[in-house]
This record gives sequence, structure tokens and C-alpha cells, in this order.
Amino acid sequence: MASNIVFHPGSVDGAERAQLLGQKGVTIWFTGLSASGKSTIACALEQHLLHLHKFAYRLDGDNVRFGLNKDLGFDEKSRNENIRRIGEVSKLFSDASCVTLTAFISPYRADRAVAREVHDKSGIPFVEVFIDAPLHVVEQRDPKGLYKRARAGEIKDFTGISAPYEAPESPEIHIKTADCDVTEAVRIITQYLSDKGYI
Ligand code: PPS
Repeated sequence: MASNIVFHPGSVDGAERAQLLGQKGVTIWFTGLSASGKSTIACALEQHLLHLHKFAYRLDGDNVRFGLNKDLGFDEKSRNENIRRIGEVSKLFSDASCVTLTAFISPYRADRAVAREVHDKSGIPFVEVFIDAPLHVVEQRDPKGLYKRARAGEIKDFTGISAPYEAPESPEIHIKTADCDVTEAVRIITQYLSDKGYI
């Protein structure tokens, strides 16, 4: 932890920024197993929001790991750090009035709680969306062949197989992908954001 640092506030606070830009920031935090549909739904929602002329941006597990988090693996400590950084980055995006969509497995409850707390402290809404698909379903989908490789012991610490996934206990939105297609998921989330006055 650095010492002798002092936070420098800007000349425009969050409320004035939102008023000037005509949009408030909010973080929509998707969590779920690999191949549960997080990225697919987040992509469709981002597209939908942009077509509504909302400033929306998606941060996605695989993509962020090509850049900002390319130094991190999948052991527990690395995942903690991955989610800690994304919690901070998403807060910054949302502080800038963006509708920020994050699509990370984020398997640990404690890590998601830290991300939520970072937002709460800044008065930025945090909407946890559980993309719920059972293991046997995602394993059958296996679009990247990762479950097969994990079962064969070729990938260690694989979520759902050899590493834990701690499902949310009280997410703001719970989507069971077995009963809900992408269009319906986008509708449900958009309706929630609208009802709360976030968009
Ligand atoms: S985490 O747990 O939140 O830190 O993971 P995340 O940053 O979202 O990255 C998940 C994507 O990485 C690929 N991948 C793995 N996932 C789980 N466990 C292991 N060991 C692993 N190794 C690689 C996988 O493609 C995940 O993508 P999604 O989109 O979730 O399927």
C-alpha cells in the first residue's frame, strides 16, 4: 500500500456529471459458470442499450485477461485479484456515467461482496445478475472444449470441476438460462434498470 497519497476530488461531482451527460452510471455484474451465457447476454444487452443511445460498455473475462489482467492465472489468489481489479475498474467506468457490464465467472462470494462494497462506498448502483445454468448443461454445451479438457485433467483449477463456484444467495436478478432465451434475459434486465430509474 502506497503511503503519503491524498485523494484529489474533481470540480464536478457525480450528480452534476450525471445531469450534464444525461445519464447515471450503474454496474451490472454478471456471474455464473463458464458457458452459462454471461458473455452472450452481456453482449446482447450492451447492443440493446447502445441502440437506446445509452453509453454502455462491456468488460469481459477472456478479453480483460488479454490485457490488464494478463499477469493473472486461475488459482484462488489470482481470481481474487482479477475480481478486485474489475471491481475497481467497473466502479471507475460507472463513476464516469457509463452503464458498465461485467461478465466474469467471479466464483467467490467474498470477492463479489468486495466489488459491491467498492460501489456502495461511492454511491454507485451495483446490480448482481446470476446467470444460472447447471453444470451438466454447461458441460454439454462446452463451446470451447474446456470442460472436456478439465475432466481429462489437462486444465487445473477449472471452475465447477476442480475449483469452486459459490452461487449468489440474493442476486438482484436471477436468470435461469434453461427457461429464458437471450432476448427475454435482455428484456428482464432492461426492465429492472428502467424500474429502478438507472436508465
Ligand atoms: S474468474 O474466475 O472470474 O477469475 O474468471 P474469468 O476472468 O471470468 O475468466 C473465465 C474465462 O477463462 C477461461 N478459462 C477458465 N475458466 C475457469 N477456470 C479455468 N481454470 C479457466 N481457464 C481458462 C474460460 O474461457 C472462461 O470464459 P467464460 O466466458 O466464462 O466461458
